[in-house]
Amino acid sequence: MSKNWQPDSWRSHDILQVPEYGDADALANVEDTLRKQPPLVFAGEARALREQLAKVAEGQAFLLQGGDCAESFAEFHADNIRDTFKVLLQMAIVLTYGAACPVVKVGRLAGQFAKPRSSATEEVDGVTLPSYRGDIINDMVFSPESREPDPERMLRAYNQAAATLNLLRAFAQGGFADLNQVHRWNLDFVKSSPQGAKFEELGARIDETLAFMAACGLTSANVPQMAETDFYTSHEALLLVYEQALTRQDSLTGKWYDTSAHMLWIGDRTRQPDGAHVEYLSGVENPLGLKCGPSIDIDDLLRLTDILNPDNEAGRLTLICRMGADKAEEHLPGLVRAVASEGKNVVWSCDPMHGNTVSSSSGYKTRAFDAILSEVDTFFDVHRAEGTHAGGVHFEMTGQDVTECIGGAQEITEEGLSDRYHTHCDPRLNASQSIELAFQIAERLKRQRDLSAAENGERVAVAG
Ligand code: PEP
Ligand code: CO
Repeated sequence: MSKNWQPDSWRSHDILQVPEYGDADALANVEDTLRKQPPLVFAGEARALREQLAKVAEGQAFLLQGGDCAESFAEFHADNIRDTFKVLLQMAIVLTYGAACPVVKVGRLAGQFAKPRSSATEEVDGVTLPSYRGDIINDMVFSPESREPDPERMLRAYNQAAATLNLLRAFAQGGFADLNQVHRWNLDFVKSSPQGAKFEELGARIDETLAFMAACGLTSANVPQMAETDFYTSHEALLLVYEQALTRQDSLTGKWYDTSAHMLWIGDRTRQPDGAHVEYLSGVENPLGLKCGPSIDIDDLLRLTDILNPDNEAGRLTLICRMGADKAEEHLPGLVRAVASEGKNVVWSCDPMHGNTVSSSSGYKTRAFDAILSEVDTFFDVHRAEGTHAGGVHFEMTGQDVTECIGGAQEITEEGLSDRYHTHCDPRLNASQSIELAFQIAERLKRQRDLSAAENGERVAVAG
């Protein structure tokens, strides 16, 4: 944090990816209104997430972060929130089994509205307009009025985030997240998925474990941890006027928190060490993510790590690598090695989505299930080779049966993309693809554990 950090000190730094609001008074009014709204999350919750992420950094837990690329006003519906939450829980339970450790669940939800764009403008049939930057800023419809940034949209986004978070809290604590119920959904998935048989064994093992626990008297009726779960929210802290307006000083510690979400991350396009986004986030106490794409070099990464986590506290900083399946092997080992040899305490997470976006022949932005899985595999291989903890995964996914990513057991083809392509930005894994991926990762984690146990056994035998 710079010596003179204030919630607004980012304003004197260079900034990228921001909208230009035409009406300064309207913007000031909205900022004023937001400043008076209640916080969406509390400092104590953000601290609890930091503690859980510290466990991830220490190799004792695993992080699952996922949700929409961009939430939208049009898709705001209780069913959509429920279905995404449900799939995240389903993924978490198989990952818990695979990793044999707690899974920290963080949604890209309840605030994930603002989008960085590769171009500030978009041209269609010779007409050039500002790019769509997410529903919190402008509208996707290609017309001059729709593309004009409208500050009032921040209020709508805040209210939608509040209502979403309210429902998520109820789901997490109100019985919906019961372990046995989530497991039953997974068994249904195994039964109905074309490749379900592959996962039958893992499903059966979880079944046995739950039955054994029940026989020992551990059920959701008497163990609250089995009936409820901790669930946290996160989004890219891109629209800094919004984030600043929701920044509050914690009465207990006097420290500043961005109360728009538990965890905030810095995008790959806005991570300039002297830039506004790094300045703003360096001064809030929330756990932070930093997206690391193929253009980040070791010096940049170490410098950013120092700025964002000067006290080297485990749980403060999660490095979310998004290299692309074909680049991960080249870029990741050097970064992991440098961070480890400098003794930096970080969580390593893998976003296998953003480096694997391609255009289909029909013009849809898509991602191949196999490329996604391949980047995750490389991520695990690299950490195994370096002796570091592959701490987590970060997905763009939805609970709906969309057709946005190709492949998976459903074998979605390029031609099939147009069937149900609904995303407001990047292509998401659908419910079935997401759960399938979690099963694949869980099997990999389980194999890895068996391998390590065998190696340790051998070492003990040799030593003995
Ligand atoms: C995103 O997570 O939606 C995103 C834009 O990621 P990145 O900054 O890694 O490109
Ligand atoms: Co995205």
